[in-house]
Amino acid sequence: MNTSSELKKQLELYLPRQTRAAEETVAVGDVLGRLLPMGSILALYGELGSGKTHLVKGIARALGIAPESVSSPTFTLVHEYTGPVGTLYHMDLYRLKHPEEFEAIGYEDYFYGPGITVIEWPERVEAYLPPHTLSLELTHCGEDCRLIRLKT
Ligand SMILES: Nc1ncnc2c1ncn2[C@@H]1O[C@H](COP(=O)(O)OP(=O)(O)O)[C@@H](O)[C@H]1O
Ligand SMILES: [Mg+2]
Repeated sequence: MNTSSELKKQLELYLPRQTRAAEETVAVGDVLGRLLPMGSILALYGELGSGKTHLVKGIARALGIAPESVSSPTFTLVHEYTGPVGTLYHMDLYRLKHPEEFEAIGYEDYFYGPGITVIEWPERVEAYLPPHTLSLELTHCGEDCRLIRLKT
């Protein structure tokens, strides 16, 4: 299994990356999903429409989960999917108002569970993110262009 410093090195070989279509962002997610060991926590920063959910679709695909089954868990905060390769916990915290709501969903069960946790709008819960959290930033670089990079 990857240690987190080996994983960071592998990610640095692959990112930053520009995509020119939504499907390319799914493909980047697929590569990331193959690199990330179970138990990883991935924080996705970026404004609405920056491609976070498309990246999650690709991670799902890497785990053998149909990408089209992935939709943002807007009201429930978290969706759980299990595929033949592993489990995905997909959080979207856009509507989170109070950190107590995050405690109420039992976030630790996901963070320390057997799957990969991916978080959209992680800025809502920054104080809860463990030190081994990997952070990516997605930004617009044109109508169909998105820049995906490691966030420092
Ligand atoms: N290169 C690209 N990567 C990802 N999405 C893109 C790209 N170009 C255009 N899009 C469009 O931008 C939107 C991204 O939506 P989504 O993945 O839900 O973003 P977010 O979860 O960050 O709000 C979709 O409508 C998608 O079709
Ligand atoms: Mg989204």
